[in-house]
Amino acid sequence: MKLNFPENFWWGAATSGPQSEGRFKKAHANVFDYWYNIEPEKFHHQVGPDTASNFYNNYQEDIRLMKEIGLNSVRTSIQWTRLIDDFEAGTVNAEAAAFYNRVIDEFIKNGIRPVMNLHHFDLPIELYQQYGGWESKHVGELFVKFAEKCFELFSDRVVDWFTFNEPMVIVEGEYLHQFHYPNLVDGPKAVQVAYNLQLASAKVVRKFRQTNRTPKGKIGIILNLTPPYPASNSAEDLAASEYADMWLNQFFMMASTKGHFPEKLMNIFREDGVMFDASAEEYTIIKENLVDYLGLNYYHPHRVKAPEISPKSLTIDWMPDNYYDEYEMPGRRMNVDKGWEIYPKAVYDIAMDVKNNYGNIEWFVSENGMGVSREERYLNASGMIEDNYRIQFIQEHLYWLHRAIDEGANCFGYHLWTPIDCWSWGNAYRNRYGFISNDIHTQTRTIKKSGHWFAEVSKQNGVEIGKELLQQIDPKK
Ligand code: BG6
Repeated sequence: MKLNFPENFWWGAATSGPQSEGRFKKAHANVFDYWYNIEPEKFHHQVGPDTASNFYNNYQEDIRLMKEIGLNSVRTSIQWTRLIDDFEAGTVNAEAAAFYNRVIDEFIKNGIRPVMNLHHFDLPIELYQQYGGWESKHVGELFVKFAEKCFELFSDRVVDWFTFNEPMVIVEGEYLHQFHYPNLVDGPKAVQVAYNLQLASAKVVRKFRQTNRTPKGKIGIILNLTPPYPASNSAEDLAASEYADMWLNQFFMMASTKGHFPEKLMNIFREDGVMFDASAEEYTIIKENLVDYLGLNYYHPHRVKAPEISPKSLTIDWMPDNYYDEYEMPGRRMNVDKGWEIYPKAVYDIAMDVKNNYGNIEWFVSENGMGVSREERYLNASGMIEDNYRIQFIQEHLYWLHRAIDEGANCFGYHLWTPIDCWSWGNAYRNRYGFISNDIHTQTRTIKKSGHWFAEVSKQNGVEIGKELLQQIDPKK
């Protein structure tokens, strides 16, 4: 069965500056560069961000390969720590601007739409040390200065912009679950940081509308919209699920698309004495600067149940996730390498959520993918990784996406994480996600089977799904 997608559908992949470029000629360190400098043992096999996948030096060849596998759009990010020399003054580093200009031109020359994100977890360490990073609204102002320079320099050619990648992961990683430097555990601060990120995003949207150089230009935000599925239909589990949705999803979704925060959640914050500091003027900025469209990252569902300890218990510190517990559904299908559940139908549920609850705003799947370790296990005699598991993973997600589009979802694209195996935060190169493999010792690239397969999907603007797989995906069909 062939599933055809709408005309001009984005077939692409996503990466980020800090995960692909390497630190070559970068004047400043971001939080991960710094963390690696002081605690390299915290990174898988002590592999740090210094070389990443060497995109800084190899971008021409990389972009040629991306073209070869049929990508018509690619997202990466501009590094604040590369582009800006003086964060307060917002002065541009000429060599960095020249690099991004070359990259953008190379993408366009190869018929690939460059999609630019402004922040992919890469806060300059100096801004953490001086101001407490996103805890400070001043840092949000400095981010607007950086964004303004990006728009001035590149928005004549880049028409697709995004303010943040997964702001909730910044909150979780830096302030709740200790997987991003500075590894704090502080619930009330996390709430303030979430608000400050939303405010910074709205201010960047406002700046974009004042500075953007082409009428075609659009700006959005990239959110990891992970639907919560309750463990049961008990009132307690449903309440936990509703709370998880308000905190994890609605917080940024509502504010970015409707200009306000979920009222019920705000009431809980007020009752618990952790309401963020905000002014009437800031609320107006958020209300008046909505995004044009969204990127939605989806990897795994979020299964939740009522918390074992009451969130109001005086013996635990206040944390935004005290209102629900994680739930391991028996019999769930797992990607054991990464430890994430595989549940492709969630893509359909996300699409319906956007359609029914967020005005059916335009969006695309900005990340989806399967991290697999030791992929050399799947090398064939001619040296190609036969990643049939990835092909099937994509087919299954595309099946549900197609179904949603058929039912009116306003989705215009699908991006895999990632074009070329890239470096990742603490996980370094443990989980491989790419269409193209990268030998990190020799920096040699080889297209995987999924890359060749995706070239055909892109060419056909559709995906072929065999009878047997179809039966597995959707037995009712
Ligand atoms: C996404 C992030 O959520 O997950 C990426 O946007 C990240 O930056 C990806 O690389 C996969 O994470 P990991 O740690 O498995 O490589």
